[in-house]
Amino acid sequence: MTPEAGAACETERVRRFFDRSAESYDGWMRPFDRLLLGDGREMVCSRARGRTLELAVGTGLNLAGYPPDAQVTGIDVSPAMLAIAGRRAQALGRAVELRVGDAQALEFPDGCFDTVVVTLALCTIPDERRALAEAYRVLRPGGQLLLLEHVRSPVAPVRWVQRLLEPLARLVGDHLLRDPLDHLGAVGFRVERCDRSKWGFIEEVVARKAR
Ligand SMILES: C[S@@+](CC[C@H](N)C(=O)[O-])C[C@H]1O[C@@H](n2cnc3c(N)ncnc32)[C@H](O)[C@@H]1O
Repeated sequence: MTPEAGAACETERVRRFFDRSAESYDGWMRPFDRLLLGDGREMVCSRARGRTLELAVGTGLNLAGYPPDAQVTGIDVSPAMLAIAGRRAQALGRAVELRVGDAQALEFPDGCFDTVVVTLALCTIPDERRALAEAYRVLRPGGQLLLLEHVRSPVAPVRWVQRLLEPLARLVGDHLLRDPLDHLGAVGFRVERCDRSKWGFIEEVVARKAR
């Protein structure tokens, strides 16, 4: 199998998993959010400006955190997750464009967004480097990338536990040993800020495309 065919196969597997889990997602995400993210989602989304693309928007848990004047577009590979995001947007009275799409091959022209947001998704997107390269492509020069992710911890004992748990995580389409910092520079981003918490397991990044 070519690497492209492998990635397509894995993307389909991830889509099926999230389509199946969509209705229960918010329930199992709530304790994770409370314990590990705190107000991280709100902090990240409050920095969004202008035309904003959220990659892998899921059930729209971030939608309430965007400034009222941000024009938000969300894409996700799972129609079932997006259906819940649509209901959430309606309940919030928030105009959001939601589209089925693959973060690894975005159907948007170059340079058409001011902000790209990704939360807890680079851990499931099969080729996270391609998704970051696509984020770079669709950002305008000077545009910002906002990330909130669980990542490979720099704290050795935590990383050992992550290594042990990795095979289990892979069963649910998750990767515990990734870190977007491995790719941001190579893709072209300048990292302006990187805050780690929870023994280095949670990472918040602000990066920018050169002007
Ligand atoms: C763990 S959930 C995170 C959802 C949301 N970002 C959040 O913070 O709650 C991962 C999401 O990534 C989506 N996803 C995975 N691979 C994708 C891809 N290649 N393109 C777009 N979305 C993808 C899944 O469908 C799922 O909604």
